[in-house]
Amino acid sequence: MTHIKNLSHKQKRPFQPAKLSKPRNFILPEIIANKQKSRCPLVVEIGAGKGMHALSFAKQNPDKHLIAIERTRNKFDAFFKMTQTQQLPNLTAVHADAIAWIVQAIGPNSLTRIYLLYPNPEQHNSNQQWLNMPFFEFLISRLQIGGEIILATNIEEYMDNAEQQADALWCLPAIRQEVPVNSQRTHFEIKYLARKEKCWQLTMTKPEGYQTRFDEWQAS
Ligand SMILES: C[S@@+](CC[C@H](N)C(=O)[O-])C[C@H]1O[C@@H](n2cnc3c(N)ncnc32)[C@H](O)[C@@H]1O
Repeated sequence: MTHIKNLSHKQKRPFQPAKLSKPRNFILPEIIANKQKSRCPLVVEIGAGKGMHALSFAKQNPDKHLIAIERTRNKFDAFFKMTQTQQLPNLTAVHADAIAWIVQAIGPNSLTRIYLLYPNPEQHNSNQQWLNMPFFEFLISRLQIGGEIILATNIEEYMDNAEQQADALWCLPAIRQEVPVNSQRTHFEIKYLARKEKCWQLTMTKPEGYQTRFDEWQAS
């Protein structure tokens, strides 16, 4: 791990990627292993559920490659089944815990965008919120300069905390917006908006010169 004096954020406790073991049956996807292919913009979705957003994103963005990760077996199976019925060479569906998988597979400064759509942790466990985790520093290190992290939630306290942490802890420029009522990106989004609940989105951008402890860190 690089020790940098001028970290761009204020997170004290460092994430420890070397302590995580490789996910079971780990295979490096072709899009990452093949240096030619990996020139195309790479996007990651964490917690893809049954893959509704992943499938439509891949269809609408043939020039980008999406890696969509889901750890719950039955959701992943439903997602994977859908990928088998469609010709989407720019979509990789991964069944894994996203933290261990990203540590293993994604190099620094590689991603143009990261989606975290309706993560819904246990309400009372704020440690499970992505912006409260030391791992978030590692996630930022995987983004290219100008790359975005897009978080959506229907939980107002989650959004309030994320907005505050993006600014005060991670020092990332962020824009908070309400999700339009006719948006239909994911199964959870459709469900919440149909119940007339408000949903929010936070778009965080990695600025020029941003430094983390993991800017050179790559799994061996
Ligand atoms: C509330 S669901 C939302 C699914 C989908 N994004 C949607 O909006 O319909 C949250 C999903 O994130 C997945 N998830 C949570 N933490 C994860 C992790 N560390 N790695 C992979 N998937 C994760 C859960 O298994 C669950 O399917």
